[in-house]
Amino acid sequence: MNMSEFTLQFSHIFHNETTPRLFFAPGRINLIGEHTDYNGGHVFPAAISFGTYAAACKRSDSKLRFHSLNFPEAGVLECSLENLAYDDTHQWANYPKGMIQYMKEAGHAIDTGMDILYEGNIPNSAGLSSSASIEMVTSQAVAALFNLDIDPIDIALLGQRVENDYIGVNSGIMDQFAISMGKKDHAILLNTDTMEYDYAPIKLDGYKIIIMNTNKQRTLAGSKYNERRTECEQALAALQTELSITSLGQLSREAFDKNSYLIKDETVKKRARHAVYENARTLEALIKLKAGDLEGFGTLMNASHTSLQNDYEVTGLELDTLVHTAWEQPGVIGARMTGAGFGGCAIAIVDSGQIEAFQEKVNHRYRDTTGYDATFYIAEIGDGAKEMIKDGV
Ligand code: GLA
Repeated sequence: MNMSEFTLQFSHIFHNETTPRLFFAPGRINLIGEHTDYNGGHVFPAAISFGTYAAACKRSDSKLRFHSLNFPEAGVLECSLENLAYDDTHQWANYPKGMIQYMKEAGHAIDTGMDILYEGNIPNSAGLSSSASIEMVTSQAVAALFNLDIDPIDIALLGQRVENDYIGVNSGIMDQFAISMGKKDHAILLNTDTMEYDYAPIKLDGYKIIIMNTNKQRTLAGSKYNERRTECEQALAALQTELSITSLGQLSREAFDKNSYLIKDETVKKRARHAVYENARTLEALIKLKAGDLEGFGTLMNASHTSLQNDYEVTGLELDTLVHTAWEQPGVIGARMTGAGFGGCAIAIVDSGQIEAFQEKVNHRYRDTTGYDATFYIAEIGDGAKEMIKDGV
């Protein structure tokens, strides 16, 4: 990313000669712990080097002007600090608008408008959290421009509210948390019930994490996602008739198996089983990683995918083809879908020496099955959202 060029674009697009300040927020992958974050369970995500850049400066009036180099056809989207209500015609800019709205509502003094230019290199609709990345880069910019002292976890929670209340997707806290709190070469184990977290170094001597993009647009992902969340709430309500728990994440596998008869609907039972077992797997995975047992970690990744495929049913032909083919390749420690599912991306831990052959073989099968190509990237685990001090840093 060439920051001087980005700054030039800023003045050109907004006809604004003020030198903007520059910010970056990453995307994220999740190593294990999927669809557990709205069930009071654990997640294990990491920030990646792909992300969203923003160039921003204050204005002297109350106008907010947004432009994205990724959606040039949308032009400059404009609104006023006094009217930040959701508006369909503002398309992607509803994310920054929602963020600014909730920061204001939380009592932060944002008293002038801003010009903000965005450019992201997270593949679109790939399930690597481009929307949370836009939210977090916006909040970084706003906090810096207005000298606001905001805790990065509170910022993440405000971002989650944007998704839940402003956009209407009932997502959990994982994405915004990983993006706000990310640390280079570390994944974060987060207990979404207590919000306690711990960084775990990811040292994959001789191996790399490969992101495999299905390139399948995640249509209806939001509504299916909300449906899964409702099913988990139904399961919890059924279990609560006998158990004093406040989330599925509080159940061990044994306690779940003993009491699952309380859930009458078989589909709802499967959803809950995934949430409970996945939570247990996530904790086990951390132990394996800390003990340097990469094989053991990979086995848990594979089990996670199987559960997401059969019990949670959020994978589909594209993700299953990538993951099942990855499992068959030499030098693969483990593979699973990552993020919400319904298309999007999978990850695999692959021997560095085998990456080229891996990509070729997996893509060959993928193309034969779906008629189009997958895309592969090496995941670099990077820092969370921040202001950029000099070119690319
Ligand atoms: C999306 C949501 C997260 C999480 C994952 C599934 O990324 O935004 O909160 O629920 O799906 O683990």
